[in-house]
Amino acid sequence: MATGVENAEKSTAHRLSVAPMMEWTDRHCRVFHRLMTRRAMLYTEMVTSAAVLHGPKHRLLDYSAVEHPVALQLGGSDPRELAEATRIARDWGYDEINLNVGCPSDRVQSGCFGAVLMERPALVAECVAAMRAEADVPVTVKCRIGVDEQDPELVLPDFLEKVSAAGVSHFIIHARKAWLKGLSPKENREIPPLNYDLVLRMKAAFPHLTICINGGITSLEQAKALLDQGLDGVMLGRAAYHDPSSVLVGADALWGDAAGLDAFGAVEAMRPYIQIHIAEGGRLHQITRHMLGTFTGRPGARGWRRVLSERANKPGAGLEVLDAALAELHLAASAA
Ligand SMILES: Cc1cc2nc3c(=O)[nH]c(=O)nc-3n(C[C@H](O)[C@H](O)[C@H](O)COP(=O)(O)O)c2cc1C
Repeated sequence: MATGVENAEKSTAHRLSVAPMMEWTDRHCRVFHRLMTRRAMLYTEMVTSAAVLHGPKHRLLDYSAVEHPVALQLGGSDPRELAEATRIARDWGYDEINLNVGCPSDRVQSGCFGAVLMERPALVAECVAAMRAEADVPVTVKCRIGVDEQDPELVLPDFLEKVSAAGVSHFIIHARKAWLKGLSPKENREIPPLNYDLVLRMKAAFPHLTICINGGITSLEQAKALLDQGLDGVMLGRAAYHDPSSVLVGADALWGDAAGLDAFGAVEAMRPYIQIHIAEGGRLHQITRHMLGTFTGRPGARGWRRVLSERANKPGAGLEVLDAALAELHLAASAA
């Protein structure tokens, strides 16, 4: 039974969220981020509906219980396949299922999903209706303001109207267009200009919808200012990944809660998780690659990154490498 609309209204986890990022927001990264914020919604990397149906389900969908609230992002454009993927994912207990309508990479375009779906709101509506029929948690949509030559002023309200008519009430809008030809995925996150004003106007035009903004937000202060302007949520991607302690420690104040662990506390708290991962045959680097930005801007940060980059990938590397990296910070602090 679909309860997306009701649940979306109850949950406030979207007030601040960490964006879905391929190769970056894997389960190790999310466990680390969760230590710094107990409240923010964390998104998985995108998983295609075809992969969920035919791929290694446990590898693609497993996560740690500590990660909640955690949202699964699906990519696809076949309503039946997306419905089936949603049905399978339901057993994993995600708190939200999100459809990717914003990713412009070539691979994604060739499968007719991601940002190219901005041109096909009726198909997106069909997809989310099919997903909602199988979901017991909110189904949400992450989109752009338009693609290519589309006029966002016309396209975005039309998209929200048509897709919300299918029962989705929660949208995360990356406030820039995607150019499907001519720009790389990276350029598509940097070159098309940001238009926060349009997203703010969409919240005014559709006050009953949950509207979250994404794109170019780099600090908690900026996030707070956008929430103060009436938006329901702020999603951060690169800033949360590259400088997690600045963005995530202190984020829980948005819910009136005390701060999560600070950078050193979070690193310490990762030790048991790392030990288990290594004992199960994993590599240190698979976890610590997400921790390189932990001390951004602090004395010793470069040494921390260097030790982890050079040593964590070596066979047999363990917690002694973490200790050596931490020693760089302590050394720099005592020299300052
Ligand atoms: C390495 C990387 C991978 C990304 N992968 C995805 C993805 O799988 N799904 C998605 O919807 N967006 C993806 N994005 C886009 C982000 O979710 C976000 O919309 C974008 O980075 C803009 O937000 P930011 O300026 O806060 O980083 C990715 C971004 C990066 C940097």
